[in-house]
Amino acid sequence: MLVLGIETTCDETAAAVVVDGIRVRSNVVSSQVDLHARYRGVVPEIASRAHIENILPVVTESLQSAGVTMGEIDAVAVAHRPGLIGSLLIGVTAAKTLAWALGKPLIGVDHVHAHLYSVRLETDAQIPLPAVGLVCSGGHTALYRIGDFLDVQLIGSTLDDAVGEAYDKVAAILGLGYPGGPIIDGLAREGNPAAIRFPRSRLSRESLDFSFSGLKTSVLYHVRGYQGREEMKLTSAEIRDVAASFQAACVDVLGEKIRRAVEQCSARSVVIGGGVSANSGLRSAMEKFSLPVFFPEMKYCTDNAAMIAGLADLLLSNGRRSPLDLDAITYSQFSHAAN
Ligand code: KG4
Ligand code: ZN
Repeated sequence: MLVLGIETTCDETAAAVVVDGIRVRSNVVSSQVDLHARYRGVVPEIASRAHIENILPVVTESLQSAGVTMGEIDAVAVAHRPGLIGSLLIGVTAAKTLAWALGKPLIGVDHVHAHLYSVRLETDAQIPLPAVGLVCSGGHTALYRIGDFLDVQLIGSTLDDAVGEAYDKVAAILGLGYPGGPIIDGLAREGNPAAIRFPRSRLSRESLDFSFSGLKTSVLYHVRGYQGREEMKLTSAEIRDVAASFQAACVDVLGEKIRRAVEQCSARSVVIGGGVSANSGLRSAMEKFSLPVFFPEMKYCTDNAAMIAGLADLLLSNGRRSPLDLDAITYSQFSHAAN
C-alpha cells in the first residue's frame, strides 16, 4: 500500500510517500527555520503563510521523487492534531482536497503518536511490548505506555516547558542561534558536564511528569546574575560548560522518568521520538539502559511526513479512516483537552 503523508503542524511543510507503513519512498521537508530564526521561535502567522506557499510544491516533489503519480496513491494521511491551528488547517485542507479529488481514503493522524511510530520506519526490528514511549520535542515532553502502536496511553507529561523548548530558550540566553537543540548538543560535547550542578526536577517519588522551567531559570541566573541586569560575560569555554551541564541535567531527568515508567508499566523496551531524540547525550546515556531502546533514524527525529504516512498505514489496515469533514485540533488525543 502506498500512502501519501502530509505534515504541517508547526513550522515544517512536509510530504512523504511510504510503502506498507515502513519503507520510505520519499521524504520531503521544507524547513522554515530561516523565517523564524530572528524571532528565536515560531511565529504562527508567518508559519501558516509559508505553509500555503510550500504545500503544493512539497507534495509534488514527494510524488516525483517517489516516482509515483497522484493516481497510484492508495490513501492520503495528514497530521491533524496537535499543533498551531493556522498551520494545521493548511495541511488538513490540502489532504481533504486530494482525498476527495482522488476518491481515496483520508486518515487523520496524531502528530505525537506518529513521533513514537517513527522508530518503525525503515527497519524490520521487532519492538518488545509493552514499551514505554517518550516523545521529547519542541512542543511536547510526555511518556506513554505502548501496548501496541494502536494502543497508546499517556502516563506523564510536562507541567511547564517542553525539553526542546528549554533547549531553545537556553540557547537564546547564551546568545546562540535557533533552533538551539542541535547547537547546544554540539557545544555540550566539548564542555564539562560536571562544571555546574544545575537542578534536576524529579517531582514526587512516583511522578512521571516533567518540569523544565526551574532548570531554565537556573541557567538564566547563572549566566545573567540574580539581578537579571548583568551582561553575559562568559568565555566560550564557560559557554561550553553551561551547555554540557544543562544537557546533563536534561538527560538525567529524562532517564530517571523513563526508569520510573518502565518499572510502573513492567515494560519490555523503550521507544524515544521527537526532535530531542536526536540528542547525542540522550542517545549515549540510553546505550547503558537495562532494556532495548529504539530511536528513530536521525532524519525521522524532527518533524517529517514519513512518520505520518507510516502510522496512517497501520490505522488504515485496522479499518480506521477519517471523514472528509475531519477537523484540525490544537491538542493531542492523548493529552488533556485543557493542554
Ligand atoms: O519534533 P520537532 O521537530 O518539533 C516538535 O514537534 O516540537 O522538535 C524540534 C525540537 C527543537 O526544540 C529543537 O531544538 C530540538 O527539537 N532538537 C534538539 C536536537 N535536535 C533538535 N534538542 C536537543 N538536541 C538535539 N540534537
Ligand atoms: Zn514534532
